[in-house]
Amino acid sequence: MNYPFWDIPHLGSGWVIGLIAIFHVMISQFAVGGGLYLPMAERKAQRMTDPVMRAEWLKQLVNHSKFFLLLTGVFGTVSGVGIWFAIGLTHPEATSTLIHNFVFGWAMEWVFFLVELTTIAVYYSTWNRIDPKLHLKVGWVYAVASVFTLIIINGILTFMLTPGDAWLAVAGTGREAGKFWEAFFNPTYWPGLLLRVGVCTSLAGIWALITSSRIDGDKQPALKTSLVQWSVKWLMPSFVATPLLLLWYLFMVPQSQRALLTLGIDTIGAGTFSAVTRIALIIVITSATIVGVAYYLAYRNPVEFNLSHAVSVLLLALIATGSGEYAREMLRKPYVIGNWMYSNGVRVTYVDRLNQQGYLTHSLWTWNGAGNGPASSYSRGEAIFRGECASCHTMGGYRSLRLLLDGRDRAGIGNFLVMLHDYKPDSPYRRFMPPLVGTRQDVDDLTNYLNTQVNPPAPKKPLLTAQK
Ligand code: HEC
Repeated sequence: MNYPFWDIPHLGSGWVIGLIAIFHVMISQFAVGGGLYLPMAERKAQRMTDPVMRAEWLKQLVNHSKFFLLLTGVFGTVSGVGIWFAIGLTHPEATSTLIHNFVFGWAMEWVFFLVELTTIAVYYSTWNRIDPKLHLKVGWVYAVASVFTLIIINGILTFMLTPGDAWLAVAGTGREAGKFWEAFFNPTYWPGLLLRVGVCTSLAGIWALITSSRIDGDKQPALKTSLVQWSVKWLMPSFVATPLLLLWYLFMVPQSQRALLTLGIDTIGAGTFSAVTRIALIIVITSATIVGVAYYLAYRNPVEFNLSHAVSVLLLALIATGSGEYAREMLRKPYVIGNWMYSNGVRVTYVDRLNQQGYLTHSLWTWNGAGNGPASSYSRGEAIFRGECASCHTMGGYRSLRLLLDGRDRAGIGNFLVMLHDYKPDSPYRRFMPPLVGTRQDVDDLTNYLNTQVNPPAPKKPLLTAQK
């Protein structure tokens, strides 16, 4: 444990990242998809022969671009910074690895990001003030810059799931930067990128339904019909391609991690669906519902399509996006960086050393009695719990250890921890939990701590009743 621990009671710090990330993904992927939508819609409008329709479309696009600027420029940006805070506090080891490996990746990302922010501000503020052709060009500059932000971040996100053999071969040697491109264009890079492009274009259509649903259908039925129908078309390509892309993506994920998914499919009858499988089903069902709602409520009846319909499509998309990101996280377990770093920051190559020297020995953040680590077995156990388990478990809230260990006495807890420590090749826990690293003494300290939490000692008799 090289960094202090960020304690978020009940929820667990992982969910702080999760909640910010889902919000951020909904907006930042709109920033990319909407970046394509705006100039394409503007070009379509400019080419219209009917001058009334052309003027109405352009007026509506001014509105939409204002909404777009505020949502992506303010909420997208702030939530992006929020993710940096959250991952830095929750996964400092992994964040440090990502920063060190992709210094120039991040630098490029921020350059494109600055171009994005500048051009969208120019785009919005120069409607009807500069030559329409030039205005359209500004829109395209924005679109290209925003696609590049996706091209770059996708390399880093997919790297975390599948760093690839070339990078793993040099990981930890100090020569990782020499494998920048191999790490960047890792095995899941292309399916990951195409999947996200699909999500981006769908979100462009879905958010555009929000603004176009507010057009008064009685006053401007022709405008509403054409805009709503055109926006729905943005959803379609990805729903056709997504199933194939998902299969390709899963095919590139190492077998060991895919086992999490097949575990659920094999056991459907037995009722022990793994979380990944359940989530995958939710994605399929919500996506199908989105297509149904978009087709029947929006495409077939555009004039009556209203804001609450549009919001329900957006909420379904939120569920699908959230589930997708959650599944990606689950698929990565027990690693935060595939085959290199476990979710609790322990490096795979350090396991033996930590088993011999003790988990807390090199920890700067546990106060010490004499020598290393805190003095009492209980508080050492608590420090080990925080360092090794709390990235995925809380004591009494999300994935609660008090609940999961309920019913086991001290010996039972001890046996479980020894099993997690030995991490035998056939251990079922290998699929989703890292090994418990440390000496026998460390295992014993953690047993003490967990046992006190799960089976608290009976309270002493109050003094007052003794007097009666
Ligand atoms: C990478 C994330 C991760 C880490 C780190 C982790 N676990 Fe788990 N653990 C899980 C998941 C996922 C489950 C399955 C939860 C479920 O079934 O709801 C689980 C299940 C468990 C269970 C229930 C096992 C059973 O057979 O029912 C126990 C007990 C447990 N973990 C203890 C621990 C302890 C102790 C640590 C720290 C040494 C730890 N875990 C670290 C992810 C993790």
